[in-house]
Formats: sequence, structure tokens, C-alpha cells
Amino acid sequence: MSVAKPNPHDAGNLHVTGAAHYVDDIPTPANCLHLAFGLSEVAHGDLLSMDLDAVRAAEGVIDVLTAADLPGDNDVSPSNHDEPLLATDTIHFLGQPLFLVVATSHLAARKAARLGKINCAEKPAILSIDDAIKAGTKFEEPLQFLKGDPDAAIEQAEHKITGSIEIGGQEHFYLEGQAALSLPQDNGDMVVHSSTQHPSEIQHKVAAALDVPFHAVRVEIRRMGGGFGGKESQGNALACATAVVAAKTGRPAKMRYDRDDDMVVTGKRHEFRIDYTVGFNGAGQIEGVEFTQYCRCGWAQDLSLPVADRAMLHADNAYHLPNARIVSHRLKTNTVSNTAFRGFGGPQGVVGIERVIDHIAHTLDVDATYIRTANFYAPMSQNAGQTTPYHMEVRDNVMDQIAIELLEGAEYSKRREQVKWFNHENPRLKRGLAMTPVKFGISFTLTHLNQAGALVHVYSDGSIHMNHGGTEMGQGLFTKVAQVAASRFGQPLSAVKITATDTGKVPNTSATAASSGSDLNGMAVKAACDTIVERLSDFAAEHWQTPKDQIRFEDGAVTIGTQVVPFTEVVSLAYQNRISLSSTGFYATPGIEWDRFAGRGTPFFYFAYGAAVTEVVIDTLTGENRILRTDILHDVGKSLNPVIDLGQIEGGYVQGAGWLTTEELVWDDKGALRTHAPSTYKIPACSDRPDVFNVALWNKGENVSDTIYKSKAVGEPPLMLGISAFLALSDAVAACGDGSIYPDLQAPATAEEVLRAVMAQRGQSWD
Ligand code: MTE
Ligand code: MOS
Repeated sequence: MSVAKPNPHDAGNLHVTGAAHYVDDIPTPANCLHLAFGLSEVAHGDLLSMDLDAVRAAEGVIDVLTAADLPGDNDVSPSNHDEPLLATDTIHFLGQPLFLVVATSHLAARKAARLGKINCAEKPAILSIDDAIKAGTKFEEPLQFLKGDPDAAIEQAEHKITGSIEIGGQEHFYLEGQAALSLPQDNGDMVVHSSTQHPSEIQHKVAAALDVPFHAVRVEIRRMGGGFGGKESQGNALACATAVVAAKTGRPAKMRYDRDDDMVVTGKRHEFRIDYTVGFNGAGQIEGVEFTQYCRCGWAQDLSLPVADRAMLHADNAYHLPNARIVSHRLKTNTVSNTAFRGFGGPQGVVGIERVIDHIAHTLDVDATYIRTANFYAPMSQNAGQTTPYHMEVRDNVMDQIAIELLEGAEYSKRREQVKWFNHENPRLKRGLAMTPVKFGISFTLTHLNQAGALVHVYSDGSIHMNHGGTEMGQGLFTKVAQVAASRFGQPLSAVKITATDTGKVPNTSATAASSGSDLNGMAVKAACDTIVERLSDFAAEHWQTPKDQIRFEDGAVTIGTQVVPFTEVVSLAYQNRISLSSTGFYATPGIEWDRFAGRGTPFFYFAYGAAVTEVVIDTLTGENRILRTDILHDVGKSLNPVIDLGQIEGGYVQGAGWLTTEELVWDDKGALRTHAPSTYKIPACSDRPDVFNVALWNKGENVSDTIYKSKAVGEPPLMLGISAFLALSDAVAACGDGSIYPDLQAPATAEEVLRAVMAQRGQSWD
């Protein structure tokens, strides 16, 4: 069976040789126009007028459009209808698209876009979390989850601490930037190639921009060079811009952001500040906790409400909180509109509770790992009926088993002693060690999004054409789902053709997001395949006069009673007997419901679990640091593809560690992003990966929920394993003083931040 095999990514050879086609690699059609946005250079103000004469006169410029020139909806928002494609009266952030240049080349469009003269009455800009709290700017009233009586529990607890942590945002840094190409068709129809995780939304936004029905727009995407959540909604602007120009001119139109524009214009991971108060006993068990989460959403709503919700939903991580209050503020600022990013707010929520545990451990002067295990949800076997702060019962907890195996495999206790010894011996270099767990809820919290469709054809030669609503962004979804199709027909993987995602083939799809791509599309493809298998079985039973229960599609052929008949023969006979060899398939996740205002329900189908141990070393004179060793054990249930899953875990960990260490977004006091290129924004490079990197799938993993071949989603959860790197740094910093001061490390823990914290330990001032 093809499923569970370590098949390489279907395009792995194309990726590494540079042969894979992305939107920008589609041969540019003759007559193609190229677009660029003119961007705002102020963060907030009234847009009075624009002098675009110089833009129009620039070489190669064919046309310049402003909001007034748009034929349909001037909106690219995925949610709230609050995000104009081109600014109208108000400028909301520095980098906002104001006008659209149409030129004969990409370079000409970009050069001309700089020539606009903007007349704007500047207003004070609300940039930071503090600014927004002061001004009271927000997208909705604060949300609250409440369980038990946290005030009384904290009051009565033996120990009580309070603290606060700032958590920086993160640039997606997909290697392929945002891109779209629109091709005009007969009678105003439009075909759009868009680098998007959400082709149906692109279809809807383009249709609204052109003022045509959805059926007049077809969106196609074969693959993205990374999305990471940054292509759930951020491709809408480019798709709409190209479609509007293509419709207006009757010529193909293409747009791609250069890296600097991409970093300035598109939303990022939400910055957070999390304040906490926790009451706990002498064993470090949490009795009551209160979190106040402040979330910087930026200027438009985008996906900020569900992102902020997911931060609340992960404020417990893997820990049972008997009494908890989680309050969330969704702040509106004159900065780029933040968006989905791997984990979708979950990672920020998890950082909050992991910081609390670290703080408790420091207060009690014990290894944080003891505090962690002392607070885990009860194991699945105990069936303790424990609930999350949103009143969902945790039924599938395997955290304790994973942690025990990981700590043993990583020789945690022995290394803890070695780290102590090392720190005792070395005044300048200090080592730190931390284990952090992850428990991540799988499903879209907007329940109706948990559905998927598929379309499968078997051609008369026995070859199979597979299509579904999921998109490929490097995560290996297409390979995994093709393995499902191959398995259902008992065919080798090579018999299945993977095809581009296409709104004309599978309609009304959800974004490929929330890690649920293979759960949802795997099931939909299975349903489509099984319909065809069923028809073929009925036909074969009659044709070969064999009971249906003696017909099996396996090992590349069809076993019919005692005979083994080639698949192609069964298919071709079925065709000649006029049996339909094509089917759709559909799947909707069962048993989930969620009331976000009540903070109650069962938002998740199941949880994914994992844990990591990270050891770091810091240079206490410079704050420089590196990861020496990481051990990971992660639960993917019964893996659909172990090598792809391992790749997701390794990549997720490194991306998570990057977020909390070297990746720092810096805006100046005018609201300009100063870190808008790889020269100033430091993502992990190959040389930054852990020197020793032991990653394993948990071999006892099996999903107790009924998922595709008992697998578990893997896309986002491992990102949170990177938190162990951050807390290992905190551990190393704590070793610099006499232990009386809590390190209070803020994220990202850049070299500067580590140095600041080290100096604080040593009673030295930064200034
Ligand atoms: N892996 C790669 N290589 N590239 C990506 O863009 N996106 C992540 C994750 N892994 C991403 C990735 C995010 S944000 C999500 S939600 C999931 O993949 C989406 O795919 P899945 O649902 O098929 O796991
Ligand atoms: Mo992933 S942030 O759900 O695209």
C-alpha cells in the first residue's frame, strides 16, 4: 500500500534543480502588462490628492489607476470589507497601496511607482500596543474565557507571581514572493494564476472586483514556494489588481512584489504582549491563572479575530488549568494588517503559559521540566474528564508518554548535570537546557470551513487523475493525498497524476490552512476513489460471476476470487460496459461545534502532541548564542508519509526557533519597517540549525479520532517546539547571576536581548 511509505515529495527533484514552475515561471504571454503599486510613505492621514502626471509620463507606462477607476468592489479583505485595494480617503499605514501603475515591463512599473506626489494631511499614528491601549482602538470588545474561580484560587494559593512578556511578530519569508497573472477570456471571463493558499477566496474577490458572478472566474495554482499562512489572504490584492487591468485592457496582466515591497505591504505574525498572574502550590502545580493577551492586529481586520481566538485557545498548551481567566484585546494600529502565520496565534498563546511555567520553576528553584510534567493534563488512560479553559474535554492526551520517552532518549537528567558543571567551570560561556511540550488543536475554529471536495478520474488505460481543494506550498500535501488515492485503487503512486488546484474542478473550497489539508482532502479523495472502486467492484462481480466481497484492489492489480486481473483490464472492460470512471468526493469533519463569545464548545476534532529538548550556549560578553543540540519526539498518529512528516517537524522547529531568537521586526517612530530585506531581517540559515538534531516520530502514535488512515496533522504544531530554544536561552541567562533575579527574557531573544538580560543578572545596566 502506498500510504505510510516514505515516498519523496512529488516535486522534490524539481525543487532542488530549479525546474519546478511557479506563477512567475509561466511563460509570459505576448502583450503582457506588468503592474506595481505606488505606496504610502506616511502611516496615517487624510489622502487629499495625488499628482500622478510624472508617473503617467514615465517610460513604458500604459495606464495609472486610482480607486476611482475600479469597475467593481474596491476591497481585498478576507473578512470585514475594510481593506481597499487602493486607498480612498484615509491612509492607514506606511506601505499602503495608493495607486496602480500599468507598464510594459516589471522594472518600468516599479520605477514609475516611485514618482507619485501625494498630498496628505498627516495625523498622529497609533503604532504600538501601548499606543492602541491608550487610544482605545480595537476591532471588537475584549473576549474572555473563564473556567472555575481564578481570583479565589490565586488568592488562596501558597505562591503568587505576576509578569509580562512581549512577543515579536514574524515575517513569513516564503522564498517565492506574492505573485499573480490574469488572462482575459471570451466575454469578460477571467483565468487567474495566483500564488495562493485560498483559490476560492481569490475567485470571490476577483469576481467582486470585476462585478461578475463567481462562474466567470477560474483560479489555478499548481504550487507555492512557501505560504506559511502568508498566502491565505495576502494574494488578494495582486489577483484583483491584475484581473482589473486584464479586464480593462483585454491584455494579460502580471504582478509580483519585490522582496522589499512584499515585506512592507503584506501582513505578518501578530505581535503580542501577555500579562500574567498565577497562583501555585509548593510542588509548582498551578491553582489559578489569569492571562491578559494584547494582540497588535494592524490597520484592517483580516484574520485577526480568529488568530486572537486561537491564542486564547492555546493559553493552556499541554497543562491542566483548574481555574483560569483568559482575556484578549484585539488592537487596531496604523501598521501593516497582520495575518495568518503557521500556528495562527496558537504559538503566542503557548509562549504565554510556557513563560509562566519557567517563572514558577525559577521562583521555586527547581528544574522547569518537573513543573511542566507536574501540570500536564492527566494521561488518556486515566480518563480524568479534565477540561480546557474553553470547557472541552481532553480525551487523547499522550503528552506524559511522549515526554518520558523524550527525556530518556535525550539523556536529559545526565545533561542537566553536565550543563550545571559546564556553567560552574566557565565564567564566559553559559549553557542552558529546556524541554517544552506542545498540544495543538486540529480543526478550523470557524466550524463550517471544515469541509473539502475532490474530483478523481480513472482514464480507460487505468491511469488516475487526482484533484482536490487543497493547495501545495511545499508541505507535501499533494504527495500524501496521491498516496491515499493510489492505496484505494491498489495502484503504485506513479499511476496517480497530481494536478493543479483549480476552482473549476473543485468548488467552494476552504483555505489550505489550520494544518488540516491532508485530514480534509485526504478524506474527500478517499470518498471519490471509493465511489469508483465500488462501481468497478459491482461490474467485476457480475462480469466474473464472483461475490463482491472476494474482489480486492491491491498490489497493482485486482484480485477477483482466485484470479488476479490487471487493473487496466478491469478498467477498460468497465469502460466498454459504459461504467462511469469519474467521481467527486466530499468530507465534513464530524462532532465539532464552537461558540466563541461564550468561550465554550468542542472546537477541535483532536489534538496533536510533541515535545522538544534544546540545549544552547550563550556568550555572556556579546549575547551571541547557538543551538547545540535538539531532540524532538512528535506524534503524527499513523504517518501518511514519514519522511514528509519529519521534514515538516524539522522545518517547523527551525522556523519557531527563528521567530523567538534572531527574527526581529523593527519599525521606526514614523511607522516605517526598517527590516525589510534579508540584510536586516535574519531568518535561520542552514548553519543555524542545531549542531545535533535528533528528530523522531512517536512510534506509538495513533489517532483515536477517525482520521485518514489514523494519521494526525503535522503542518503547524512543530513550530511551537522552537519555544524550547527560547527557554533554553532563558535557562542559560539564569545561570549568569546568583539566581535571585528572574531572567525575564523578551521575544525575540536576539543577541542584544540576551546580552541585556545577562547584564541585568549581573547587576549591570544596559545604558
Ligand atoms: N511547509 C512548507 N514547506 N511550506 C509552507 O508554506 N505552511 C505551514 C505548514 N507547513 C507550510 C508548511 C502552514 S501555515 C500550514 S497551515 C500547513 O503547512 C498547511 O498544510 P497542511 O494542512 O497540508 O499541513
Ligand atoms: Mo496556516 S497559518 O493555517 O496557513
